[in-house]
Amino acid sequence: MVVLISGGGSNLRALLDAADSPLYPARIMAVGADNPADGLAHADLFGVPSFVVSPSNFDSREAWAEMLLENVNFFKPDLVVLAGFMRILPAEFVRALSPKLINTHPSLLPNFPGAHAVHDAISAGATETGVTIHVVDEGVDTGPHIAQRSLKILPGESESELHERIKVVERELLVETVLAIAEKKIDLNQVSKIS
Ligand code: GRF
Repeated sequence: MVVLISGGGSNLRALLDAADSPLYPARIMAVGADNPADGLAHADLFGVPSFVVSPSNFDSREAWAEMLLENVNFFKPDLVVLAGFMRILPAEFVRALSPKLINTHPSLLPNFPGAHAVHDAISAGATETGVTIHVVDEGVDTGPHIAQRSLKILPGESESELHERIKVVERELLVETVLAIAEKKIDLNQVSKIS
């Protein structure tokens, strides 16, 4: 797989740790980012190649995404994982990789899509939230769900405290989901058809 990140990359790290075991049937061929993200250090540590394609170097979002796609496709991955990749990808990019493009999102979708899911869950007074891993479609966090796991929101919990607890669950679910895809227990073509 190729993993795309924007930030600290703890989900990426969980995948790298898992893939380090000969018993785990998936490998990370490359890591990409839209900025010189801190999380790229995890790739370096594991000797995995990485690339940065920053939108500020392009005249349009489409041109940026085209270059990003070229970098991804260079590695001919069977799966592309958005693990905290905080940019919306144009339809052409999604169509080129669909359904082998998945995303992890810190809420129980369809509740709280978008970049502020944890904040939005707390603001709405929700008592439960969680993680969704889904196939990426052309909308924002609207694609067919592959796996979900829920979590109670504790009274008085801050956004960062809650997000940290979500991320513990998220890392586990992502590693398990990629395993199931690699073992063909989950068929992304099927997931896309059903939803
Ligand atoms: C994750 O919760 C992801 O779902 C969200 O941003 C966070 C990224 O965390 N969009 P990390 O960079 O993997 O630590």
